Amino acid sequence: MKIAIVGAGYVGLVTGACFAEMGNNTVCVDIDEQKLAGLRQGILPIHEPGLEQMVVANTSAGRLVFSSDLSAAISDAEVVFIAVGTPPNEDGSADLSHVLAVAKSIGQKIQQPIVVVNKSTVPVGTADKVNEALRAELDQRGVDIDFDVVSNPEFLREGSAVQDFMYPDRIVVGAENPKSERVMEELYGSFSKKQDRIQFVGIRDAEMIKYAANAMLATKISFMNEVALMCDEFGIDVENVRRGIGSDPRIGPSFIYPGCGYGGSCFPKDVRAMINMAGQAELKDTIFEAVERRNQLQQLVLVDKVVAQFGSDLEGKLFALWGLAFKPETDDIRGAPAITIARHLCERGAKVVACDPQAIEVSKEALAGLAVEYVDDPYQATENADALIVVTEWRQFKQPDFRRLNKQLRSKTIFDGRNIYNPARCTDYGLNYIGIGRSSALSS
Ligand SMILES: NC(=O)c1ccc[n+]([C@@H]2O[C@H](COP(=O)([O-])OP(=O)(O)OC[C@H]3O[C@@H](n4cnc5c(N)ncnc54)[C@H](O)[C@@H]3O)[C@@H](O)[C@H]2O)c1
Repeated sequence: MKIAIVGAGYVGLVTGACFAEMGNNTVCVDIDEQKLAGLRQGILPIHEPGLEQMVVANTSAGRLVFSSDLSAAISDAEVVFIAVGTPPNEDGSADLSHVLAVAKSIGQKIQQPIVVVNKSTVPVGTADKVNEALRAELDQRGVDIDFDVVSNPEFLREGSAVQDFMYPDRIVVGAENPKSERVMEELYGSFSKKQDRIQFVGIRDAEMIKYAANAMLATKISFMNEVALMCDEFGIDVENVRRGIGSDPRIGPSFIYPGCGYGGSCFPKDVRAMINMAGQAELKDTIFEAVERRNQLQQLVLVDKVVAQFGSDLEGKLFALWGLAFKPETDDIRGAPAITIARHLCERGAKVVACDPQAIEVSKEALAGLAVEYVDDPYQATENADALIVVTEWRQFKQPDFRRLNKQLRSKTIFDGRNIYNPARCTDYGLNYIGIGRSSALSS
């Protein structure tokens, strides 16, 4: 099939590469010429396991093309995906300007019938707006070309995006026209062969499913983070509580790991958009508001613990920070707790030496002007540091050289914002461990 994808970011690029991998002729369209020039040479703007190989192989095979020419890209495409950003407006609602600008451009340029698939995360009712924007352009042109709008939210996770796209849990398609359903069925058939994973629903259902999914996951995280705070107060190890409740199949083990809050480009903005939609539905005091509030406070929990140990004036103190990206296997620092933590420590006068496998370059811009130094070697960061702050789950940080840390850290303290170390083992090495909802005080 001939496909055009508008927006070559995380979602658009992965979608384009995976459709091309299945033999489709795919054109990824973007307005960022620099990004396109890099992609044509196999230089990817993001770090995502397996993506580079897939992009390079399919570009060489001629099935994946990068272009800024929307007109040419959709000239003989059967399907056009919209995969541009939907960042939050001031009031938390999703900014639809990019999505509607693309809809308008499609309306100005289509010459033949086409299925317009919205893959961006958008609030309920957006498909109607896309429809109107496109229709208005066709009316302006005085032409009547058949088109249909479909909603196909994306559930890939950064860090395992290619794997998630190739082997999805479910493919949600909101469509109201059987012909478009058949097009989507053909397109996704190869990703859903072993087990039928395509769920056909109404368009508004599909739009809501995406927000409800992200809000549910964010709720689990904030819930567990609040339980962890109680564990801190009552002298309980939250990790025992996590295992105790996670083994209940009604609760499940996923997304109940306490930490410094969720980040990334999706959860924070999608929860805020959900709050905004709840407001439109005149719901008050919603769970979504509590989830968002807990998350904002949670990003500062480690800073509070640092202040409890070192005092509120951190002038002259040096902290090693392991981790900058919001999660492992990505260089994405949008909404990342580590960035918030670094900023707050510096505002209190501290210096920070940060280490991350992929996110150093992007962090330099985000933390410009602050007393943050960047190193590639984790133990260079801890050299003479007053304490170590860990906000990462990249594998190489999971089993560090505790003996070496004991020698290097002045206060011999590890603040573990992801609860990846065993407090008792840290004690064995003479290290003081402070986690989220657990500390070495509990194990001694
Ligand atoms: N990142 C994720 O993990 C993820 C997962 C699921 C859903 N989503 C949703 O998918 C959407 C896209 O997210 P993303 O992370 O891929 O965004 P992104 O910011 O990485 O990429 C968006 C791309 O769109 C391009 N663009 C903007 N306006 C354009 C236009 N008029 N024409 C052509 N290109 C244009 C930008 O240059 C950019 O390359 C969002 O709604 C997001 O919520 C993201």
